[in-house]
Amino acid sequence: MDLKGRDFLKLLDFTPEEITYMLDLAADLKEKKKKGILTEWHKGKNVALIFEKTSTRTRCAFEVAAHDLGMGTTYLDPSGSQIGKKESIADTARVLGGMFEGIEYRGFGQDIVDELAGYAPVPVWNGLTNEFHPTQMLADLLTIREHFGRLEGIKLTYMGDARYNMGNSLMVACAKMGMHFAACTSKKYFPDSSLVEECGKIAAQTGASILLTEDVEEGTRDADVVYTDVWVSMGEPDEVWEERIRELSPYQVNAAAMANAKPEAVFMHCLPAFHDLKTKIGKEIKEKFGIGEMEVTDEVFESEASIVFEEAENRMHTIKAVMAATLGVPKERE
Ligand code: CP
Ligand code: NVA
Repeated sequence: MDLKGRDFLKLLDFTPEEITYMLDLAADLKEKKKKGILTEWHKGKNVALIFEKTSTRTRCAFEVAAHDLGMGTTYLDPSGSQIGKKESIADTARVLGGMFEGIEYRGFGQDIVDELAGYAPVPVWNGLTNEFHPTQMLADLLTIREHFGRLEGIKLTYMGDARYNMGNSLMVACAKMGMHFAACTSKKYFPDSSLVEECGKIAAQTGASILLTEDVEEGTRDADVVYTDVWVSMGEPDEVWEERIRELSPYQVNAAAMANAKPEAVFMHCLPAFHDLKTKIGKEIKEKFGIGEMEVTDEVFESEASIVFEEAENRMHTIKAVMAATLGVPKERE
């Protein structure tokens, strides 16, 4: 398997075998890290980390992973670059391509990261767009595989805004890996029909299935994984909060939803999560709308079933695998 020189823009671009290869590489890198074995395979190289939206996990994962691979990093914050304001994506790609061996981009439309990749002579990694969050997918798949020992046949139920980056990406990931995906939400929040159709075709080949349902009982029944994400994503206007709370509250992950899943079901969330009043936005929402928990209750978030912090740690190991694979894995390791 050779992924050297490839971009990592969305999971749709990769075969199940290539995805499995990256997961295996991540598992190997994780084991090496735990044992204190150095993996400075890319000493002397540098990567640019562009964030047009804020981040805790993705930024830290890229920085730590790059350092572990022996590389230097330059972080461009949401306001600290000329991108899109004074300089086009095409020009930025060629400027950075002359200084760095790889470029991470977090921002708005998928078309932006696609254009960046089209012009940059080095691998480009998607650190989240409105449409897709592919590095999160590798972390989620690794976490599920570690927990259940397999991916094939696992039922993953996604509750909440399934038409945005997380819902789209999880549907693709499940279709690719032979898993059963259920979007359990109000019709308005179902993933885009053309993507559903594309995933349906993939599912027909991998043994996966896709279910879109407004019925919580049907959606969560026998789920192995119950997954959710914030109801309002980065870049969306504050005005949508009221509508989202009204429309998505029935799809909150709470004890009843978990009780309807398999007894051994786990709870997952890409994070950050609104499950208590320990955040500024959480407090503001409580004052305005009177609710203290949103997409997940504190009870579920803090329960034994919750594997969100294992999932968050795996962001680092899987992002390291993406960079290592696309920059080239040394022969002696293979
Ligand atoms: N899950 C995730 O992407 O987190 P950050 O926004 O903190 O990077
Ligand atoms: N849907 C969320 C994911 C955050 C990791 C957002 O785009 O803000």
